[in-house]
Amino acid sequence: MSVEKAPFGKLTDGREVDLYTLTNENAMCVRITNFGGIIVSIEVPDRDGKMADVALGFDSIEGYENTHPYFGALVGRCGNRIAKAKFTLDGKTYTLAANNDVNHLHGGLKGFDKAVWAAEKIEEANAVGLKLQYTSVDGEEGYPGTLKCTVEYRLTNENELKIEYFAETDKPTPVNLTNHSYFNLKGQGEGTILDHVVYLNAKRFTPIDETFIPTGELRAVAGTPMDFTTPTAIGARIHADDEQLKNGKGYDHNFVLDGDGLSLVARVEEKTTGRVLEAYTMEPGVQFYVGNFLDGTLTGKDGKVYEQRYGFCLETQHFPDSPNHPDFPSIVLKPGEQYHTETVYKFSAE
Ligand code: GLA
Repeated sequence: MSVEKAPFGKLTDGREVDLYTLTNENAMCVRITNFGGIIVSIEVPDRDGKMADVALGFDSIEGYENTHPYFGALVGRCGNRIAKAKFTLDGKTYTLAANNDVNHLHGGLKGFDKAVWAAEKIEEANAVGLKLQYTSVDGEEGYPGTLKCTVEYRLTNENELKIEYFAETDKPTPVNLTNHSYFNLKGQGEGTILDHVVYLNAKRFTPIDETFIPTGELRAVAGTPMDFTTPTAIGARIHADDEQLKNGKGYDHNFVLDGDGLSLVARVEEKTTGRVLEAYTMEPGVQFYVGNFLDGTLTGKDGKVYEQRYGFCLETQHFPDSPNHPDFPSIVLKPGEQYHTETVYKFSAE
């Protein structure tokens, strides 16, 4: 096992950022930059031991510094949308950056995905990794309180990529951290993910309006194209005449997870390579997004063009727009409390 550091280039403001290569005993390899805590690549074997990079992204720092749809990024202070970029906390109304029409998305104009994180290597008996730290100042993107965040990535010899998130604040503030990796188990740029077979551990989801904001309802998936409690190809029902698929332009919904503690979120299988991805989380929800907004305008690693639905995301999280839905599990972190959550992406082949 090893973790190695190399320069990844210079930002337009002159700051230099690095690329860390984590390799385990099975030659599984994950590359992470301290710019945005972005997972740049994930190389895993197929059923014949053939390696492929299953994460969408860019070869160089420029791609990540430009506007892009959060490939591999650490997302914060709040992942997902906050309606009309406003919320009220302890009687005070806060206005956030509106960067998704009238709504706030994934932390705003300069979210955690655009921050330079302090990085330290992790070297343990069964894992190598990276400890990243970032302090978000009081008022950043409109959020109250100074938030000190630590994210620890670990690659284990069980081919797991573990992500642990920690945070502390000096004023009450909403916090909802996630990772926005896009996966394609055939290999990045190798076609659509519509043939990937998905199981989701969720009997309910949060329906959305035309602006992708939850209506507040927790609706049963049974009898609808949102039902992945039986493994089903992503593309099997994506064109069904269904209000929710129309509102989301495909699957772009938060599912209410049925697990408790660190438990199974999803199992995704790609039959031609045999690659399997299982996700586990402590979070109550997952945004299942299937790259509906990818449109062939972005060229990623190795010159691969990312067409619509060339990647899927499993963004583990609390529910979208939680600050405006008192019935949803709260995302408010208070001084003296420790935010801690964990998500695991485990790769295998069969
Ligand atoms: C999230 C959102 C999507 C989209 C992507 C980024 O998954 O739910 O609607 O904004 O991020 O393109």
